[in-house]
Amino acid sequence: MSTETPRTLTEHAVEERLHELLGQERFPPPPGFAAQAEITDPELRARAAADPVAYWEEQAGKLRWSTPWETALNDSEAPFYRWFEGGRINVSDNCLDRHVEAGNGERVAFHWHGEEGEQRDVTYAELLDQTARFAGALRDLGVQEGDVVGIYLPMIPEVAVAMLACTRIGAVHNVVFGGFSAGSVAERMEVSGAKVLVTADGSRRKGKTAPVKPEVDRTMGGLQGLEKIVVVRHAGLDDVPMTEGRDVFFDEVVAAADPVDPVPLDAEAPMFILYSSGSTAKPKGIQHTTGGYLTGVTTTLRQVFDLKPEEDVFWCSADVGWVTGHSYIVYGPLANGITSVMYEGAPDYPHKGIWWELIERRGVTKFYTAPTAIRAAMKWGVEHVSGRDLTSLKLLGSVGEPINPKAWLWYWHVVGGERCPVVDTWWQTETGAMVVTTLPGLDDAKPGSAGTPLPGYEVQVLDAETGEPVSEGEGLLAIPRPWPSMLRTLYQDPDRYRSTYWERFGESTYFVGDSARIDKDGYIWVIGRVDDVINVSGHRLSTAEVESAIVAHPHVAEAAVVAQADDLTGQAIVAYVTLQGETKSSDEVGDEINAGIADRIGKLARPKRIVWTQDLPKTRSGKIMRRLLRDIAEERDLGDVTTLADPSVVENLQERWKAGA
Ligand code: WTA
Repeated sequence: MSTETPRTLTEHAVEERLHELLGQERFPPPPGFAAQAEITDPELRARAAADPVAYWEEQAGKLRWSTPWETALNDSEAPFYRWFEGGRINVSDNCLDRHVEAGNGERVAFHWHGEEGEQRDVTYAELLDQTARFAGALRDLGVQEGDVVGIYLPMIPEVAVAMLACTRIGAVHNVVFGGFSAGSVAERMEVSGAKVLVTADGSRRKGKTAPVKPEVDRTMGGLQGLEKIVVVRHAGLDDVPMTEGRDVFFDEVVAAADPVDPVPLDAEAPMFILYSSGSTAKPKGIQHTTGGYLTGVTTTLRQVFDLKPEEDVFWCSADVGWVTGHSYIVYGPLANGITSVMYEGAPDYPHKGIWWELIERRGVTKFYTAPTAIRAAMKWGVEHVSGRDLTSLKLLGSVGEPINPKAWLWYWHVVGGERCPVVDTWWQTETGAMVVTTLPGLDDAKPGSAGTPLPGYEVQVLDAETGEPVSEGEGLLAIPRPWPSMLRTLYQDPDRYRSTYWERFGESTYFVGDSARIDKDGYIWVIGRVDDVINVSGHRLSTAEVESAIVAHPHVAEAAVVAQADDLTGQAIVAYVTLQGETKSSDEVGDEINAGIADRIGKLARPKRIVWTQDLPKTRSGKIMRRLLRDIAEERDLGDVTTLADPSVVENLQERWKAGA
């Protein structure tokens, strides 16, 4: 333990220290950490690589199965892989019943903190009781195995209850991030054919309460197939509009329902769908299944966060509406039987030091967040961290986008007090669980590189032209072997599953969609997406989806959206927009465009900058040249523009950009 706490930090001293550290390429596991780490066997990866299927069987065997599997991996219909075929298992049983039966029912599953300072501790026994009852309530509402249940909730324990209750009876959940608009929820409910939606009366954000249920009614009223809406009373709103025969309150149905036992499900039973952005405006319904997903998230969290279920207080600051929340707020922590913090609010509300305050108060041992949050904290200043006792922390994790070395070092020095390994975990909604990172008691970290593949995984960087593995240098990231927590398909769209992931390198090599560099030590440095996906503060958004929300404005003729590098959010959205005919002022249209995007997708998808233009750079065949738009936004030299139908377009755009128009 450090003796310098609570530390007084000054901006100047931190700057100096970061400057010293900037040249250090490798950070070995801190000795205090290494001495207590679970995984220290340097042969583990090699053993797993010798027989990866056997390795995954060994990991899956740590879960409770009601029927053992017959075939660990069936690849006869590749790329539609099946894991643990013939086995039966229940996720909620593994996350709850198993721990309660082992005598750990009184252990806290979630220390929940509300935005206004409320606190609730939910034990494993309580979570089990609520889950078993809500599963009963879902059945009473007509939900059967295989039915889709939508979940659109804030960060409250009920979100975990709703998800776990689905897994208890084999319903397939479709969680939509609370920051998305009700309109985008409606779209996701419609395309997934959801039968029930679980939502809240309202949501709270930075001291303001927004009604949710009326919005849900407005956008989802006419949805065919959506039979019931369950409403959690959370924001204390009066006069929640409820439609007789369709809408019920969560607390009432839970009180009225009998608890149900977990249903043993086929290992390959669909577990959830999570919509994520792809290259087209239509979001992809990434589908995960039961046994493999649970094996992946349970194993990776235990290994990478060096879990000690008796002692750990884990906090993953993501939102449950993203895969990070699914895997590492709900399923990974609960399957491992650990205590977590769940926080409803924003990192700067009620004050900019709230995260550090919560870490101090709850004695958080392992903290998992995104680079964008670290950069925001850097910007707010060390005064918000200074004086906090953060010595409970033992390990820090990062996810969602590449972490720049400076933010890595700040995290290491300011938050971790140079005692805590920093694990930079690379993975995706599609992979279900972490894939590339460092094992904190074993591997050196290199700031800016995620590390090497975890045991049981193989990851390659392939030459973009030849498709051959690159031993050192740049290329496209690929996973040349199936793994248990991989997506199984895109919901009701197997053709798109094939064409998105398995066409580029064939049906046994998963095409990731990221470019990366591999160094002489085999460390992977992720560069970014190669498709039209923008990563804003770790949120995946599709350029096409934003473009179609913009062109929905009646005065917009054409729009092209690109990503611009941003110091705070990693990437920011820039929209180039052409207006048609005699219109209102562009300011007015800009406001309306922003409102339209907030309504159709969510506020997070609003562009940082809109550039008005008479025309967009196009090839002679009429294709918009987005590369040039990115170059303009990042003020790079445009190179050869002779293939353009009208080269003067880009000159005008460059001028407008520089003039801030
Ligand atoms: C990016 C989030 C660099 C990457 C878990 C990936 C990262 C996409 C990292 C998936 C990381 C995620 N370093 N880039 N540690 N983690 N990414 O599906 O481009 O929301 O393809 O999953 O985020 O985003 P998704």
